Amino acid sequence: MSRDNNAFIASGSDLMRRAMQNRRLIPDVPHLKPMLDQLPAGSIVCEVGCGPGGITLDIAQLYPHITVLGMDVDEESIKLAQEAKDKAGTTNVRYAHGDACDLEKLVTVEGFEALNGGCDVVYSHAAIMHTGDQPAAISQMRKAAKPNGTISLKEGDMGLFFAYPENPGMKRWLETFPTLSLGKGADPYIGRKLVSLVLGAGFTHSQLKDVSMHGQMQWRPQVKSGLVKGFGQIVRQSGLGEDDKQLIVEGLEEWSKYEDGVVSFPGVIVTAVKEV
Ligand SMILES: C[S@@+](CC[C@H](N)C(=O)[O-])C[C@H]1O[C@@H](n2cnc3c(N)ncnc32)[C@H](O)[C@@H]1O
Repeated sequence: MSRDNNAFIASGSDLMRRAMQNRRLIPDVPHLKPMLDQLPAGSIVCEVGCGPGGITLDIAQLYPHITVLGMDVDEESIKLAQEAKDKAGTTNVRYAHGDACDLEKLVTVEGFEALNGGCDVVYSHAAIMHTGDQPAAISQMRKAAKPNGTISLKEGDMGLFFAYPENPGMKRWLETFPTLSLGKGADPYIGRKLVSLVLGAGFTHSQLKDVSMHGQMQWRPQVKSGLVKGFGQIVRQSGLGEDDKQLIVEGLEEWSKYEDGVVSFPGVIVTAVKEV
């Protein structure tokens, strides 16, 4: 690959990859279910920026009559996805390493020919914001969809994130997270821009089918302590000053122990159909 186009702040973190491997259709992208339920046998669905493949493998197992493609710029994530698929013996999912902004390059990879305008559904989950060139990635998703095919994005917007109770360390983290992401080249405020980006990629207003939000409140102790471990790793590896690092890490750890502690990271959903 001639350019580094991965602005994911936790790229390289095995802890984060393992956590993402636990993602599933219903808790994470339930808006896709009605679309998937209607797809006839032989349909092709692609996740752009699939990470270690938690969602793609789940979809492939729930819908054995369709083919699922997953691609990601992180080779290690693709390796993990491949291993999980092999372990499960699932044969209707394929993975490839590539750049979402150059999705069409993958058409020469065996099994990925459908990216040349032959996919029934092309979706992303928390990935386009990290690509470094969001308009290019969304245009490429549109190109990969077949006539009357669908693209569906669910992307975060860090302006919507909140936690309670907000101790000083958690408060500082919520202020710092978007800045660190911006510094890496991600767009932490992409959620609010999705309609604009999808229109910019060539869809018309009447082709927008769903513009909504989805979010889960995280309140279970195990989930909170997993999140805090992942955030702590990002903070320790960041260029923040030592005082800031200590304030955030200690504050997050304290917060994870609050019985009434909750955090919410809502995502904005935009779905559009490439009607002809
Ligand atoms: C927060 S993770 C989400 C992974 C997966 N969609 C999920 O929900 O479990 C973001 C993913 O976007 C990927 N990514 C970042 N830039 C990319 C690019 N240019 N092309 C493809 N994937 C990219 C990262 O490698 C990472 O796996």
